[in-house]
Amino acid sequence: LTPIRAILAAVDAYDGERVRVGGWVRTGRVQCGGTVAFLAVNDGSCHATLQLVVDAAQVAQPPLARLAATGTSVLVSGVLRIPTKRSKERIELGVDAVLHAGLVDDAAAYPLPKSRLRLDYLRDFLHLRPRTETIAAVARMRSQLTFATHSFFQENGFLCVHTPIVTTNDCEGAGEMFQVTTLFSQAQKADKEVLKLKLSEISRNNDDDDGSVCFDNDFFRRQAFLTVSGQLHAEPYACALSRVYTFGPTFRAENSHTSRHLAEFWMVEPEMAFANLQDIMNYAESYVKHLCQWLLTHCLEDMKFMVETHDKTAIQRLERVSTTPFERISYTQAIEMLVESEGNKKFQTKVEWGIDLASEHERYLTEVIFEKPVIVYNYPTGIKAFYMRLNDDQKTVAAMDVLVPKVGELIGGSQREERLDILKQRILDAGLQLESYEFYLDLRRYGTVEHSGFGLGFERMLLFATGLENIRDVIPFPRCPGKADL
Ligand code: 4AD
Ligand code: MG
Repeated sequence: LTPIRAILAAVDAYDGERVRVGGWVRTGRVQCGGTVAFLAVNDGSCHATLQLVVDAAQVAQPPLARLAATGTSVLVSGVLRIPTKRSKERIELGVDAVLHAGLVDDAAAYPLPKSRLRLDYLRDFLHLRPRTETIAAVARMRSQLTFATHSFFQENGFLCVHTPIVTTNDCEGAGEMFQVTTLFSQAQKADKEVLKLKLSEISRNNDDDDGSVCFDNDFFRRQAFLTVSGQLHAEPYACALSRVYTFGPTFRAENSHTSRHLAEFWMVEPEMAFANLQDIMNYAESYVKHLCQWLLTHCLEDMKFMVETHDKTAIQRLERVSTTPFERISYTQAIEMLVESEGNKKFQTKVEWGIDLASEHERYLTEVIFEKPVIVYNYPTGIKAFYMRLNDDQKTVAAMDVLVPKVGELIGGSQREERLDILKQRILDAGLQLESYEFYLDLRRYGTVEHSGFGLGFERMLLFATGLENIRDVIPFPRCPGKADL
């Protein structure tokens, strides 16, 4: 199969070439008294469509009208040609064989008619929406950003570590975790024998098992959860291999019905030994710049589409971010600026030292005051997680958030507390159990080291890049309160 992207990138070279093309009809029309069909076909390799010209005199069934229905899949072969000047196509395919046609059963019932559809309507068709221009563009940009993430960290000497999804501790200490249970607990009620069998099978297959069968509902013999962050598992690897990163799904049972929160989202988390707050601010800035530049180089067509249809400033924003230094201000300065600014009257949450910055404040700093990304550092101890390093003032921690226009918080990170006694106290102050964090304390007992890291919300980056309004449109299958379709 020849990707449409390759053909459109080199039309002169492909003129006269025989190719096979496969894709889905975006729009189709039958002309010349029902004898010729013109199909605009897209195969996902790029934003554009290729025109297929199917002449009933040369090509056997199916009937052209059915072939031309939006949504039909086609696999064809034919010869590419540059059409006469009157056509707006740069190249078209004269089809001489239809090798496959997946017809649309009932064209009137197909949920994606030709007209451009609202994104909230498309959320009811998560399985079909990748065929639309917007969701396909997002998918390509998401894939490119994934590649750019690995290239950035690999080129900077970071090792990729796969951290677990099932965990027994709460990294952020916010108690917003999904608990993992087995279906066995239900089976237990229904059929104890089946359960016994299942558990004994597990015991047989598990070399380390002591042979005793657990009857309680916990497969892991303790409470287990879906991870909220890979950080606590990345730290042991950073404290052995120096520079690592993890990139995986994370889960938060926050009851947030906003356009920036998901219950399942992807996070990129680098962790570095021998690195302090300054170092990770520098890395965070270079990484975000790298992602923006990458999109401008590798996804310009999709970005242009976003500019035409969703956000006029999307390309400008990426260009500005990739070339302008980010502003860096302390939390205390940020609060002073917000209070001084006229904007304070407009805020729903009153600004005063000690508050957690709300999205409206973050956007005011980045969109009105600085008009570019802002890194805010040294947050009050009381609003941040237990693992962040306590500053000498005892009131703030060495934390930093990268805030960007349109989105607000894109990255959260910190220097980690490497001093054993202080860390123990912080765990207790946070109301957490020391026993759960023994492994974490060991890293401080045996060869402790200054180390730091951050997490970038991958979907927030996509919101920022595409200019789309709702985070549910930049992840293939969104999970949020009340919704986990498909
Ligand atoms: O600021 P957060 O909670 O930081 C951590 O989890 C750290 N353990 C990361 C680290 O230092 N390794 O989350 C990091 C980022 C946020 O800045 C935000 O972009 C994103 O994750 N995020 C969410 N994205 C979508 N939906 C949610 N519910 C999110 N919660 C956080
Ligand atoms: Mg945060």
